[in-house]
Amino acid sequence: MNFVSTDRSVRSLLRQGVEQLRSAAVPSFTLAAELLLLHVTGHDRAWLYAHPEEVLSFETAEKYFALLSRRSFGEPTQHLTGKQEFWGLEFEVNADVLIPRPETEHLIEVALDHLAVRELRAGRPVRSHGEDLTLVDVGTGSGCIAITLAKELPAATVYATDISSAALEVARRNAARHGLAERIHFLESNLLEAFAPLATCRPDIASAEAGHSSLSFDLIICNPPYIGLRDSDSLPVEVREHEPSTSLYGGEEGYELYGTLIPQAAQYLKPGGLLVLELGHNSLATVQPLLDASRWCNVAVANDLASIPRVISAERESVP
Ligand SMILES: C[S@@+](CC[C@H](N)C(=O)[O-])C[C@H]1O[C@@H](n2cnc3c(N)ncnc32)[C@H](O)[C@@H]1O
Repeated sequence: MNFVSTDRSVRSLLRQGVEQLRSAAVPSFTLAAELLLLHVTGHDRAWLYAHPEEVLSFETAEKYFALLSRRSFGEPTQHLTGKQEFWGLEFEVNADVLIPRPETEHLIEVALDHLAVRELRAGRPVRSHGEDLTLVDVGTGSGCIAITLAKELPAATVYATDISSAALEVARRNAARHGLAERIHFLESNLLEAFAPLATCRPDIASAEAGHSSLSFDLIICNPPYIGLRDSDSLPVEVREHEPSTSLYGGEEGYELYGTLIPQAAQYLKPGGLLVLELGHNSLATVQPLLDASRWCNVAVANDLASIPRVISAERESVP
């Protein structure tokens, strides 16, 4: 049973929510209380602060306290509101997908910058709409990377894979929400394996690839699961108990998937094609040597806002 105070004004409810989440040691407790209050009222932030005296209904207050209680016990705010913003777009999220993180936006920045630089280096005009570009987001989860790139590069051909069919359902709904249902080809696949029998077994994909001499991508982008199972105990309860383990753990150490993905990427990228990978906070030392000079060039690392190496990118050598 949730306690509903007699003072149901916006100001009082917000104050009580902040206090409850603070005492439960919830991270970013003020923001969480605000987001939950916004969610139950259906209003935006400006309304919240413009109407501090507004008295909410008993039912609304009760819903709010129920959500505060679930948040206090560790459910992520985004699971309670059902959404998360990424690159200025709103994405549906639930327990089947990783909640998009702000640091993943660096992947988008790096990919867009490199694609532009690559064109300039080749003496071609920058293809700002992604004409003739084919890209794949490996481990798409909510679809945030594939959908953002499809928006940014409206003429590009976009594929997205995930090993989780439940995640792909969420990603498909997000694509539809952003009017991109027809633009993105979602495939259930272990990394890039779905593309292996392309010419023979997947005429649907093969036809989308018509014009390329063989199946190949201009960009392979991936935010893989990179946490080590050995580190699971150190994760916050919100992550450990509420986000899907397939989206978190790359293996006992965490970096295992890079060792499979990088050689696959070399196989499926066009000569000069770009690989962009998100890094775990200590995976650089293991991942960088996998991008060996015989197959890769222009290896670059970008830090996130906390100065942690967050993105590694490399081009496939032009001469395979
Ligand atoms: C860290 S999450 C990234 C989700 C989303 N791209 C993002 O950045 O928010 C990793 C995703 O990879 C998927 N995944 C894990 N192992 C995979 C594999 N072997 N092949 C394809 N996808 C995999 C998970 O289901 C999960 O959706």
